[in-house]
Amino acid sequence: MATMTHARPMQAGKDAGPQSEAQPILRQRGREIQPYGTLAKYPLGLSEEVRAESVAELNQVLSDTIVLRDLYKKHHWQVSGPTFYSLHLLLDKHYEEQTKLVDLLAERAQTLGGIAIAMPQDVAETTKIERPPRGREEVPVQLSRLLEAHEHILVEARAAAKKAEQAGDAGTADLLVSSVVRANEMQVWFLSEHLVDTPLVRAK
Ligand SMILES: [Fe+2]
Repeated sequence: MATMTHARPMQAGKDAGPQSEAQPILRQRGREIQPYGTLAKYPLGLSEEVRAESVAELNQVLSDTIVLRDLYKKHHWQVSGPTFYSLHLLLDKHYEEQTKLVDLLAERAQTLGGIAIAMPQDVAETTKIERPPRGREEVPVQLSRLLEAHEHILVEARAAAKKAEQAGDAGTADLLVSSVVRANEMQVWFLSEHLVDTPLVRAK
């Protein structure tokens, strides 16, 4: 009786390797189809100079927004003390809102034909927001870091919006004001109220 075997005789070029149509082509690398800092041309009625300037500004705000977003998650995890629960929830809410801004900013950069900065290594090289320690800090310090990051982004986003508006890029200006500035201002209010030293039980 013949013995069944699953092993097929090896034939050069006839195994189920890359020659098979069903075989995924793995571990591929290639050249970049668009280098960072260059623009694809879309028929938007905006000059290359205007689009390049807007993309550069958007990428700066994007980098800082990614860092602020991640600072929110860090503090959502590492917050401590009697206000733990409300802060834990609030910080995550702000994280989610910042995540939406990240997507809007990145997709605006792509819409203009540019390339949105994306990876943490690249963001770390670009952001202007101070790096916190890996360890855990006191609540007032955590909130102060967040507020300083917000203020930095607000100043930057308003200036970028003004520049875009003057250059005729109303779409970028609108995004920066209607989404970025307004959301950041609101979050500043919510955080700032946690730093008011008011009695919890007995009035002074
Ligand atoms: Fe969580």
